[in-house]
Amino acid sequence: MEKGSPIGVFDSGFGGLTVLKEIVHQLPQYDYLYLGDNARAPYGNRSFETVYHYTLQCVNWFFQQGCSLVILACNTSSAKALRTIQQNDLPKIAPHKRVLGVIRPTAEIIGNFSDTKSVGILATNGTVASESYPMEIAKFFPDLKVFQEACPMWVPLVENREFDNPGADYFIEKNIEQLLTQSNKIDTLLLACTHYPLLINSLRKFVPPTTAIIAQGDIVADSLADYLHRHPAIENNCLKSGQLQFYTTDNTTDFDEKGAFFYGEPIQSKYVAL
Ligand code: DGL
Repeated sequence: MEKGSPIGVFDSGFGGLTVLKEIVHQLPQYDYLYLGDNARAPYGNRSFETVYHYTLQCVNWFFQQGCSLVILACNTSSAKALRTIQQNDLPKIAPHKRVLGVIRPTAEIIGNFSDTKSVGILATNGTVASESYPMEIAKFFPDLKVFQEACPMWVPLVENREFDNPGADYFIEKNIEQLLTQSNKIDTLLLACTHYPLLINSLRKFVPPTTAIIAQGDIVADSLADYLHRHPAIENNCLKSGQLQFYTTDNTTDFDEKGAFFYGEPIQSKYVAL
């Protein structure tokens, strides 16, 4: 294991910044390296093979930068690539390094939010088609009813900052309606895509006021804190100078401008060619 490494945080683009923000808020002492694969985003409609191939390439990049722990802060990558990377690739390429996702920590607690034992999952096509959420949630809450809705238009709306207008509302209302008509018992909605927290004000317009809308940022931050507590060898190896570095596979000016919006603070990125 390398001597002192930053924690890697990955997303297909900007969405993971909403997770990084909560992680840094809760665990500011560590160093973090963020990579957005903006040149190839969105991942949501891509095949299993493509998402796996892109994600593995990015994970390898983190390893080359010295990261020993990488968080896939992207549901689509967590759904379509994480298991194969953990089971097939890591033992061969980096047996002492760890790659974690966002689905399991969310599945572990989502049932606690619902009184009616019925939750709705809003996610990309890829995440929904993978059935990862219903499968993972069933391990922790076997009695919970899980309903899913793919929202393929939402990521492009967010990425292009076109989410606060009547055009966006049309797609948001349509997907919410399609989800809520699956069951009138749904009292909890999970934003199972790291881009969606930016839509929360628009979503509120179409969701009953008593319905809980759950974003993943603090769930993932809590889970990382717990993981580091339970794995002292990994924790001891983490650099702790509170430094943040941002990388993108596309235009840095664009990343800095839009990314600041997701992260909530100005950011300065560097370009990386993969
Ligand atoms: N933000 C990613 C997620 O959580 C996906 C966005 C994309 O389609 O690239 O699923």
